[in-house]
Amino acid sequence: MKPIEIRPGVYWVGVNDRVTERFEGLWPISEEGISYNAYLILDEKKAIVDLSKEMLSDDFLAQLSELFDIAELDYVIINHMEPDHTGALTHLLKLAPNVTILGMPKAVQMLSDFYGITENVERLSNGQELSLGKNTLRFVYTPFVHWPETMMTYMVEEGILFPCDGFGGYGTLDGAIFDDTCSDIEYFESEALRYFTNIVAPFSKSVLSAISKFEDTPIEIVAPSHGLIWREDPGRIIELYSRWSGYYKKPAEVGITALFGTMYRNTEHAMNAVLEGIASQGVPVYVYDVRKIHTSYILPALWTQSGVLVAAPTYEGGMFPDMMNVLMMADRKRVGNKKAAYIGSYAWSGGAQKDFESMAEKMEWDVINSIGFIGGSGEMDLDRARELGVQLAQAVISDSGA
Ligand SMILES: Cc1cc2nc3c(=O)[nH]c(=O)nc-3n(C[C@H](O)[C@H](O)[C@H](O)COP(=O)(O)O)c2cc1C
Ligand SMILES: [Fe+2]
Ligand SMILES: [Fe+2]
Repeated sequence: MKPIEIRPGVYWVGVNDRVTERFEGLWPISEEGISYNAYLILDEKKAIVDLSKEMLSDDFLAQLSELFDIAELDYVIINHMEPDHTGALTHLLKLAPNVTILGMPKAVQMLSDFYGITENVERLSNGQELSLGKNTLRFVYTPFVHWPETMMTYMVEEGILFPCDGFGGYGTLDGAIFDDTCSDIEYFESEALRYFTNIVAPFSKSVLSAISKFEDTPIEIVAPSHGLIWREDPGRIIELYSRWSGYYKKPAEVGITALFGTMYRNTEHAMNAVLEGIASQGVPVYVYDVRKIHTSYILPALWTQSGVLVAAPTYEGGMFPDMMNVLMMADRKRVGNKKAAYIGSYAWSGGAQKDFESMAEKMEWDVINSIGFIGGSGEMDLDRARELGVQLAQAVISDSGA
């Protein structure tokens, strides 16, 4: 795409990544893609906020060349050192050798660690300002959104916040880059949630702390480094990130994520009875087959719904492996504050139930009930399963204070 002017003298110079199959080597984006947004400010001094992944350096530098002679660039602002925003740096420096690179002290250390860059580098302090002529940039230290060096840049006169990964989302920008011009805002909101739960969620406390630093700051535009630019309703994405982050410490939404895996469907039959029990209480349930669905797509429900059902059999003395993977990732992403229940089949000494209970304890989930049964599920097992669904649904309802 061509550069797009978002305010006089301020340009989006992003690139779409339609090549990478897994973001950070983990999270599927082969269908959705992702954008790396950077922003060029052409004032008396010329500055760029964030860059792109190395793989797309040619596209990125071509974007810049459309607008000005790159050799005239004065500043590179590093909000975040992750290579999806700094990979193009060494290529850029060849064309703009006199540039000054600005970042928080930890970013400056990482510039040396990752790229061996130690010259023409300036350490910023929290709240420091830089005048570019007509415009002023203010640098606000927002550690751990989602690395220790992360900061957000605020353009004072125009009220533009450049938060880098904060308020970001998956999905390429297909011709339109703004919240008011994109064709499907709900898609971008749900991809922002997936991105949030995959990347940012374990740092929810830091996100809330970052948001609080801008409480009294007028924000006209939120211009993140992935996904849409929010100019019609900048408060919307801040509100969403704030709500999602809040779920780390208080009950989430009234609903249950039912995770299931099975080899020979004994567990699946019992799960169906649990689902009947849940449905009888009018609580929404979202079922995910862990054998088929990547954890990336499960985490949004797991994070936002306050109940979890784990339905999986024993496999070689422990939890069915695909389920264990989901639970381990849930732990890594600090999915807490859950009402939880387990059901699963085994044939001799079991083991899945024990693994569930120890993972639940680790994540401080409140286990409402946990049932292991031998072989196929008889009528008695199905009755217990139905009852387990009722109990879990009621726990979720009462947790919400409804
Ligand atoms: C490869 C394999 C390993 C198993 N390992 C165990 C085990 O260690 N302990 C146990 O009690 N049952 C074990 N089982 C038995 C299953 O847990 C049992 O067949 C159960 O009914 C399967 O539930 P499902 O129909 O939901 O897949 C194993 C089964 C398979 C196929
Ligand atoms: Fe990042
Ligand atoms: Fe990023």
